[in-house]
Amino acid sequence: MRFILNGLWLMIALIFSKPTTAQQIIPITTDENALVLKVDKDKNLSVIYYGKKLANKEEYSTVTEMYRQADNYTQVADAAYTPSGSRNLLEPAITVTHADGNNSLTLRYVSHEQKDLSNNVSQLSILLKDPVYDFQVRLFYKSYFKQDVIEQWAVISHKEKSNVTLHKFASANLHLKAKGFWLTQYHGDWAKEMQPEESKITHGIKTLDSKLGTRANLFQPSVFMVSMDKLATEDEGTVLYGALEYSGNFRTDLELDYQNNLRIISGINNYASDYSLKPNEEFVTPGFLYLLSHNGKGTASRKMHDWARTYKVLDGQGSRLTLLNNWEATYFDFNEGKLKELIKDTRKLGVDLFLLDDGWFANKYPRNGDVAGLGDWEPNKKKLPNGIATLVKEAENNQVKFGIWIEPEMVNPKSELYEKHPDWVVKQPQRSEHYFRNQLVLDLSNPDVQDFVFKVVDDLFTKNTNLAYIKWDCNAVIYNAHSSYLKNQNHFYIEYMRGLYNVLKKIRQKYPTVPMMLCSGGGGRVDYAALEYFTEFWPSDNTDPMERIFMQWEYSYFYPSITSSNHVTDWGKQPIKFRTDVAMMGKLGFDIVVKHLNEKDLLYCQEAIKQYDSFKDIVWHGDQYRLSNPRESDVASMQYINTEKTNGVLFNYLVNNRYGAGSTYPIKLKGLDANAKYTIKEVCLYPGNKSAIDNSKSYSGEFLMSIGFNPIVNAQRTSVVLLISKI
Ligand code: DGJ
Repeated sequence: MRFILNGLWLMIALIFSKPTTAQQIIPITTDENALVLKVDKDKNLSVIYYGKKLANKEEYSTVTEMYRQADNYTQVADAAYTPSGSRNLLEPAITVTHADGNNSLTLRYVSHEQKDLSNNVSQLSILLKDPVYDFQVRLFYKSYFKQDVIEQWAVISHKEKSNVTLHKFASANLHLKAKGFWLTQYHGDWAKEMQPEESKITHGIKTLDSKLGTRANLFQPSVFMVSMDKLATEDEGTVLYGALEYSGNFRTDLELDYQNNLRIISGINNYASDYSLKPNEEFVTPGFLYLLSHNGKGTASRKMHDWARTYKVLDGQGSRLTLLNNWEATYFDFNEGKLKELIKDTRKLGVDLFLLDDGWFANKYPRNGDVAGLGDWEPNKKKLPNGIATLVKEAENNQVKFGIWIEPEMVNPKSELYEKHPDWVVKQPQRSEHYFRNQLVLDLSNPDVQDFVFKVVDDLFTKNTNLAYIKWDCNAVIYNAHSSYLKNQNHFYIEYMRGLYNVLKKIRQKYPTVPMMLCSGGGGRVDYAALEYFTEFWPSDNTDPMERIFMQWEYSYFYPSITSSNHVTDWGKQPIKFRTDVAMMGKLGFDIVVKHLNEKDLLYCQEAIKQYDSFKDIVWHGDQYRLSNPRESDVASMQYINTEKTNGVLFNYLVNNRYGAGSTYPIKLKGLDANAKYTIKEVCLYPGNKSAIDNSKSYSGEFLMSIGFNPIVNAQRTSVVLLISKI
């Protein structure tokens, strides 16, 4: 009977869906590209093309005829969302066990709907149904015309008699054709984040994934690039950027199949996560974000930045606060008096905000080190007898703002929270606990824990109405994944993330604009789902400026500099100018003991902050060009230019200390107006130093872009900041 009803439903749906001839072409077009889907006569939905868009849409249907590759035996090798258990022979996007125990799935096109969400954004949804089971997948493609970005996700549901188990549930399934593919991927560890690797993709499956639970991408972020036909450079070649918008376990499979096509399947990691889907429940996958550029990585990253600032990052088009953080200045060793001094130093330095870091809380087990107190969010009475309010007041008196550090998802076993609520902690009931930085993770799948975490933040704002900034840390990964709240442990990793997003949503409903930094003892967490709630992220605990030149370079492919919290610290051997200049290529902060700075160093910082205030808008909202790669040259050069092409900043650093290393050749600028004239002036000079640059000269944009400009970087001038101004 059920089969008859399903068949009937399908017939009705087909009658009401758009009329289809033997085959139907569905192009998703952006400014430069088209992702073209095809519905064949048997209602299989496939990807037939992703590349430069054609003027004549009719010609898309002819694309596949031009390829003479090996046989597509199953007719689903190029599926837009590959089901498993029926004809498929390759990596699936979705694998299920139906209510009756059957493992097979076939997905047939039923209908599609396209709507414009604005004059730049449109959304296509395509309904796919199993002809036998009452099971459906709705694919969503949200395209951003000007930025050439597509976000793709799936909504899975069914009306079977009882639960269906989802074994795999990807967000997206791409199918690409090229004469060869190269993968750019990243790996890392604490203080070694964003290490790039480039390799030719060979046959078989390459998986990028994380199973860490919380700070999912400590070892490997979900961002990657695929160059097509040849390895893309900054300005040449076809390159696809991809990233999963998800802060938990992810998995991206890149499969070079027997036909030499590349299949990319990305979504939540199905590791230990068989999901039991109730009838009528909707399983909504996170978005998989992708962008195709035919002019190399530079264009791709600028489009990504534009997209991120306009549509994704919280307050992406707004401003940010410069700050002084006390973490490396004091660690856990401070009291009210010391902090009041630091607040005065904040003013003296000239930044906007003082940020109080770890160590301000817990009484029964005071937070005097990382071994105790996490979870007990009451100000420590010994260190802060008058609470936080007096510090906020002190900040006000000094005309600076006040921000605070929290790590609300975590607990030390030595804490009152753990004593009161051992059942709120993620741990295996029968196994010994295993710690990451002496701490455990709270079970955010439990609504009571979600309320607790929300209250940590809410209480801080309620008690301190002028609190202006939160640094949200997350240092532990999940070991011994188990929730004493959940009945089905297979749901744990997914429910943890749902819980986290619930809390963040609630915080943003009540406090929509307050800036929050996404920190994770390094860059183990940044992604475009989290950045909907956070204004900025912490790229790494490694703030050695030499290391940061390389790391920030890699992050810059994917994230706009307004999101990158760069702090000047005592890491590294470079002079204060070098350290400050590197930190200025993003959102500037300091984590130093101001009173340890000698007179000239202090003066340098004060003047540099003023200078930064004058050009930060260009760094945050302008177009970013990577001019000279530190991995290929003695000099690293990074340029930012406003959209009007009238004002820019060029940062240059010596990254090689071998004899005579320096800027032997001119650096070619980019993105200028060729016909305009520009002056170039060195700024951020160390007190007493004279510039080697003649700022009275002017150059045409054409000259600067085709001949270039020599910033005169050498062992005496290791860091050179230049202002570019149109006359
Ligand atoms: C790790 C962060 O990255 C540091 O900046 C600092 O906030 C510590 N946690 C505090 O425990």
